[in-house]
Amino acid sequence: MTGAEIRQSFLDFFREKQHAIVPSSPLMPDAPNLLFTNAGMNQFVPIFLGQQKPPWKPPRVADTQKCIRAGGKHNDLEDVGLDTYHHTFFEMLGNWSFGDYFKKEAIEWAWELVVEHWRLPPQRLYATVYKPGPGEPSEFDQEAYDHWERLFREADLDPSIHIVNGNKKDNFWMMGDTGPCGPCSELHVDLTPDGDTRGTLVNKDDPRCIEIWNLVFIQFNAQSVAGIADPGVVEYVPLAQRHVDTGLGLERTTAIIQGTKNFSEFSGTVSNYETDIFRPIFDELEELSGKKYQSTLPKHGTAGESDQEKIDIAFRVIADHIRTLSFAIADGIIPSNEGRGYVLRRVLRRAVRYGRTLGFHEPFFFKLVDVVAKTMGDVFPEVRAKQKTMQETIRREEEAFNRTLDKGIELFERELAQERLTISAAFAFRLYDEQGFPLDLTELMARERDLTVDVAGFEKLMEEQRDRARKAQKKEAIGVEAENLRVAPTKFLGYDFVETESVIETVLPGQKSTEFNIVLDRTPCYAEMGGQVGDHGLLHVPGHDRTEVGKLHVTDTQKRGDVFIHRAALAEGRAPEPGEAVRISIDVDRRRAIERHHTVTHLLHWALHQIVAADATQKGSYVGPEKLTFDFSSAALTPQQKRGVEKLVNEKIVQNDPVSWTEVPYAEAKKRSDIQQFFGEKYGDLVRVVQIGGDAKALNGYSMELCGGTHVRTTGSTD
Ligand code: ALA
Repeated sequence: MTGAEIRQSFLDFFREKQHAIVPSSPLMPDAPNLLFTNAGMNQFVPIFLGQQKPPWKPPRVADTQKCIRAGGKHNDLEDVGLDTYHHTFFEMLGNWSFGDYFKKEAIEWAWELVVEHWRLPPQRLYATVYKPGPGEPSEFDQEAYDHWERLFREADLDPSIHIVNGNKKDNFWMMGDTGPCGPCSELHVDLTPDGDTRGTLVNKDDPRCIEIWNLVFIQFNAQSVAGIADPGVVEYVPLAQRHVDTGLGLERTTAIIQGTKNFSEFSGTVSNYETDIFRPIFDELEELSGKKYQSTLPKHGTAGESDQEKIDIAFRVIADHIRTLSFAIADGIIPSNEGRGYVLRRVLRRAVRYGRTLGFHEPFFFKLVDVVAKTMGDVFPEVRAKQKTMQETIRREEEAFNRTLDKGIELFERELAQERLTISAAFAFRLYDEQGFPLDLTELMARERDLTVDVAGFEKLMEEQRDRARKAQKKEAIGVEAENLRVAPTKFLGYDFVETESVIETVLPGQKSTEFNIVLDRTPCYAEMGGQVGDHGLLHVPGHDRTEVGKLHVTDTQKRGDVFIHRAALAEGRAPEPGEAVRISIDVDRRRAIERHHTVTHLLHWALHQIVAADATQKGSYVGPEKLTFDFSSAALTPQQKRGVEKLVNEKIVQNDPVSWTEVPYAEAKKRSDIQQFFGEKYGDLVRVVQIGGDAKALNGYSMELCGGTHVRTTGSTD
């Protein structure tokens, strides 16, 4: 069977068992605590937790899920290239039951597919079962054990040999530190020539016995214990319903089926890379480099001794990493300096550095995008649709890194000439800071020479640098903590009014004796949020007979939770007192200037999507009276693209299109891919959609964004 046929055979098998076949979710995860989608179950978390009802009848699904494990809890980056079966990107085939079938069916069907359908000899199969160690959650998984026991007995095999117990580390699956989790049973395959290792190699990191399928029985929600900040301290709260979550590695399974010629020969090489999934990438890489892949593996614990070992490692690393880069970029994750973008950049730089082993000094990595698009595009059309973006992004990244790579390597060699045993933190940091060497790249180069890097020292230097950056950025903040404010939420009336009669809730002292932090029951002043700066204004204290007894300049408006805090400086008379009625108005000219900038921010965002790519996502913005700035993730714009964006924005201003806003339930907005929203942002039940063009409230504008800010009424407005 080809890889494609194996994938199809899995899906067909579960379709016959009444599973709906659903698409893979994108690699950009929904859950804010994940770097990348790292398992098939990620997209079903709300169903597991009972927050969403499964729409399928019966509630069963199967799919092939794109996964990246290159950072966070599940991270295989360091192993990639050194063995035949770890990847940063891979496909996970899975079947799920949401409160429907449980252990019996999950286990029997896994057996049916692997043993009866694909014909894997059961004497080579080992099943693991959860047995908690001291202090570990839950109990021995007797139910799973009983099902496996029966199946092995029926196959005339000894369950005491073929069932292996494992503790929390191996047999209790968690997506992250918290979230849905439970005991699991894994299927391991003995690949030794005689297949007689009697379970001794299970979970020993030995390539001759590898796990292919993990059946997780989701029974708990791991929750942080209230009041304890350590994310490792969790309690396992039983879920109302019990679910099945499985994951079968497509590349591994394909390697075994193809490498053993349908389980008939166990003397040859079983390697994920020697399958029709990776062979086309190797062919291209051989063509480009003039070098040949020879299937050598480094000795355990070494990073390759002979030249050929090093070449073969480089082949595997590069072939693995090009899939990660291609698929991530296709899903809108762009190499950058922070978060998941930085993980991606590290993976890319690692590949480029290994490219040197194959003799590449010019960009080459991007040339492999075509073969990924060609071989994977039938199943994942996005890698064809985004082929250009993928190539361009990778090429630019390669060019930028190539410029400093040689310099970095030279510095590294020079440092080594001084016969050190450890690479100092200061040097590793210098390579990072000046040459763009991610720490793991420095570590990798050190490991190749049996050296270590002072990682703790490096982290300390990094933290110091972050600290400096934070201090440099820190604006003068209003020194009021939310917990000191025992007042009701402030009513914001500033969408419709520029002036209100309000009642003073609290007056707190400011930095000087003439400065105050004032909270009102309602206000027309916008408090800084979503990039838009806080309003300025005037606050009048009318006194009892309405002759003014005090006047204050509002110099900033900030939010603490739902409470608006007006920073005010006394201009005349006295400050107001709690309970007193006052009149507050905004600086209208300043606000209108801000609104023009806010609306044009939306136009700019829209135009970027038209001209550059739909995945040029907003990362942050500043919207003030004097200017706007807009951060977004994408490769640098070409001069032509910049002109295109300017032209579009200007056209829309001249067209003087209507700008309108309306509130809709968040659940509805979430379903609309044409409404821009921030990933990971917490939205309330009702959200405000700002639209440009279209009919008011109809949600048919060309630009639509979830936004709480204030805007002009038409794009050409100069009010
Ligand atoms: N969620 C399980 C895993 O990723 C199936 O191994």
